[in-house]
Amino acid sequence: MQETETEYAWQPVVAADWRDDACVLLDQRLLPAEERYLVLDGVEDVAAAIRDMVVRGAPAIGIAAAYGAVLAYRQAGADTGALERGLAMLADARPTAANLAWALCRVRRAAGPPSADAWRAALAEARAIHREDIEMNHQMGRLGAALLSGRSAVVTHCNAGALATGGFGTALGVIREAWAAGKIAHVFAGETRPWLQGSRLTAWELARDRIPVTVLADSAMSQMFRRQHPSWLIVGADRVAANGDVANKIGTYGLALSARHHGARVMVVAPSSTVDLDTASGDDIPIEERESGEIWAATGADAAPAGVSFANPAFDVTPASLIDALVTEKGVVESPDPKALAAVMARP
Ligand code: MRU
Repeated sequence: MQETETEYAWQPVVAADWRDDACVLLDQRLLPAEERYLVLDGVEDVAAAIRDMVVRGAPAIGIAAAYGAVLAYRQAGADTGALERGLAMLADARPTAANLAWALCRVRRAAGPPSADAWRAALAEARAIHREDIEMNHQMGRLGAALLSGRSAVVTHCNAGALATGGFGTALGVIREAWAAGKIAHVFAGETRPWLQGSRLTAWELARDRIPVTVLADSAMSQMFRRQHPSWLIVGADRVAANGDVANKIGTYGLALSARHHGARVMVVAPSSTVDLDTASGDDIPIEERESGEIWAATGADAAPAGVSFANPAFDVTPASLIDALVTEKGVVESPDPKALAAVMARP
């Protein structure tokens, strides 16, 4: 039996934070087996943690980068060259999530030129970015949940939960709100090869919240749409282009095609910090290509067959034409197009 609204309380989890003058990151590579926090006091360490998937998910990457920028300011003192090197290291850590460059730009604007004290202004801004992200998550959760009617199964992909954000989540924020309102019967989550964010992270978050979830191999998802008749595919985004095309975890595009074919609607949940109006379309979004070793390592093998080439794109682009609703904290854009998206983004 489903819990009632009053009985449901989500279990907070913190992916990135600033404590005792250092950046603290939950090492997501170890979940769900182990909850270990890394304490990082060098900008190089934060850049490496973003690159190596200690912290991942577009908003969480932005928050970690903001705290990393505080360290860059603190290490650089008044040395402009050192500050630029530190910020560039962070900017280059991962290419697809719009939140990374957005957060660095905000910290730089707030802290100004390097000086012995500038890191304090950088820290105030990084904390504001973190706090605002949590507020945006809750606002998107309410807006997205209002789009669901009745009570049905939903599908999600990768992890767009508290672990991927300042807390609460984008897609999982909507799922949490909708569950509390009695609108969700069950969640289906794709395992998300090769890093298994769906089976390791999303399933972990939902299980902690006692929201019923079934994990399927990515290759089983079309059949699931056919047999289980979910009402919505609800996912996050790494970058939303000006025309409404969405880059998200590899596999999202195929899920959106399956959803459209089987009559499920597609909801993308992303804060305005993920929307990049300077990128015209999905074709212009840089797609991260990661080490091919990640593909076979995920199966437990330590080497690929000799002479075989592998490709490991971390993201794909879902065209705007497949998206029914883009939920931002500023409002919902139905069937996104450039004009409607720009209008919502122009809101305060
Ligand atoms: O490679 P990852 O784990 O950083 O990819 C994360 C995703 O694709 C998420 O869906 C996206 O960042 C949205 S997180 C709110």
